[in-house]
Amino acid sequence: MCGIVGYVGPKQATPILMEALRRMEYRGYDSAGIAVLNNGGIEIHKAAGKLSVLAGELEGREPVGTTGMGHTRWATHGAPTTVNAHPHLDQSGRIALIHNGIIENSTAIKKALLARGHVFLSETDTEVLAHLIGELYEGNLEEAVAAALRDVDGAYGIVVLSADEPGTLIAARNGSPIVLGLGEGENLVASDQSALLDHTRSVVYLDNGEMAVLSANSYRVRTLTTRQIDKPVNQIEWDLATIERGGFDHFMLKEIFEQPESIENTMRGHLLEETGNVRVYGLKLSDTDAKKVKRIIITACGTSWHSALIGKSMIEELARIPTDVEYASEFRYRNPIVDSETLVIAISQSGETADTLAALLEAKQRGARVLGLVNVVGSTISREVHGGMYLRCGPEIGVASTKAFTSQVVALAMVTLRFARLRTMSLLEGRRYIDALQQLPAQIQQVLDCAPEIEKLASRFDGATNALYLGRGVNFPVALEGALKLKEISYIHAEGYPAAEMKHGPIALIDENMPVVVVAPRDAVHGKIVSNIQEVRARGGKVIAIVNKNDEEISRLAEATFIVPETLDLLTPILTVIPLQLLSYYVAVNRGCNVDQPRNLAKSVTVE
Ligand code: M6R
Repeated sequence: MCGIVGYVGPKQATPILMEALRRMEYRGYDSAGIAVLNNGGIEIHKAAGKLSVLAGELEGREPVGTTGMGHTRWATHGAPTTVNAHPHLDQSGRIALIHNGIIENSTAIKKALLARGHVFLSETDTEVLAHLIGELYEGNLEEAVAAALRDVDGAYGIVVLSADEPGTLIAARNGSPIVLGLGEGENLVASDQSALLDHTRSVVYLDNGEMAVLSANSYRVRTLTTRQIDKPVNQIEWDLATIERGGFDHFMLKEIFEQPESIENTMRGHLLEETGNVRVYGLKLSDTDAKKVKRIIITACGTSWHSALIGKSMIEELARIPTDVEYASEFRYRNPIVDSETLVIAISQSGETADTLAALLEAKQRGARVLGLVNVVGSTISREVHGGMYLRCGPEIGVASTKAFTSQVVALAMVTLRFARLRTMSLLEGRRYIDALQQLPAQIQQVLDCAPEIEKLASRFDGATNALYLGRGVNFPVALEGALKLKEISYIHAEGYPAAEMKHGPIALIDENMPVVVVAPRDAVHGKIVSNIQEVRARGGKVIAIVNKNDEEISRLAEATFIVPETLDLLTPILTVIPLQLLSYYVAVNRGCNVDQPRNLAKSVTVE
């Protein structure tokens, strides 16, 4: 969602800003703009639509100047038009602002500003904040921004510049990520590390309530009330190659094919073969504390919520701890029952999802210990939890989450082992699990080697407007995930259902035109799902089944099958989801869809 970048240094700002915005395109946006300090004024260019439209606008008239900022906007207040695109100016036209987030009291502030003669051009809350800063400006931008933000409720990540203070950028954060990039004789600010990597790996993460004052040769971090605070400088561990497509047509395909390596990275250093256990220091959970946990709540959104459902099955089955899975967006509004014996696990690839963050803060406030399973290092959720585990699956650029899902399930398997070995699981069982986890990367590779088979199956979705995904037990969440993947990138309506529940309604939809994808490895409920496939067949439905080798029974019933290797029942989702990811990818490509940046979607959803 929305991308922010600012540059101050000796180089021309425009190409740097445009390249940085390109690197953040994956986040999802619907308009873009830049502002550059030029000849004692501010030159602004904005355009609705993709960055290429803005680039077209700039051709032959790129603003000249070495201080500037750029923004990609994902509309919240006001339609995705050029006039609503950022940057926005204050009343004087001498201060410009870019903003991620929502200013909740903007209506009241706007009313007061209107009464004092301000004129607004856009429908945005951002323009209101720009005017407020302008009104409070008395020759010191830093103080004007601090004063304005003291009056503001809501979430923001902002960058501000003034034509009267060339060579200075002010940034601030409350709820929306802001990271400073420290270079040699130049400094940058962005909402996303990927925008900084061309220039530096040394970064400072702002926390909520903090501001930064940047010039080419210095930076200072402060709060809204104090002049200076000390912040650690961190190093970004990944490099540019990891955020480039590396020969693949799309990031999504690259990320699907990275999974043997990405889950290996998730497990690295944590598995203890001898003791059939795991060691995850980050969890900060002693044996005594772990034994005290009476109940677990896992909270997340979207794909991460699907991995949470698999985690529930694992934890309840192996560790026998009652576990609930909550949509993060619902959790905090329903007065949840949480106490000090409840462990809350928040799962998030981005670590910035507003709903998940709010749910974990609510749980913390109610006295729960909160763990995070997060991919993005230094993200807000990773810094708000008591302990946790980084997924270490590398940057996920495609909007459709793929490798983060398998890493989340692997991480949940490791959390499960940690609890299970303290309670019910024997040494031998623990070793069996470790062994099965270690085989998964090679098994995923086997599935990926058969991608051309899936590519052929994708043609069965030609002309389809609906699809049904069925699974049972631990593979029901895989059916949900397969359906989500298909709908978000191919725009075909798809539903995931527990296979037996289908007869209570969705069975009415089945006809020869609707593909029915059934996830049916040879697990404890295999016999049951065979009956469900028969029910579909009896209504003329066309079944594509994900099965294990030599499953003659299902092969006879299904129109097509795809074989995945066998593993322990609870780990099957890590293998069965791969063909579903590939299937949605090839279907979307066949339909000419923008796979990496599907319409209306954002990579990290930082608004409620
Ligand atoms: O970054 P998070 O894991 O917190 O994101 C949660 C969802 O927004 C995300 O999984 C979304 O559903 C993806 N588009 C799924 O592919």
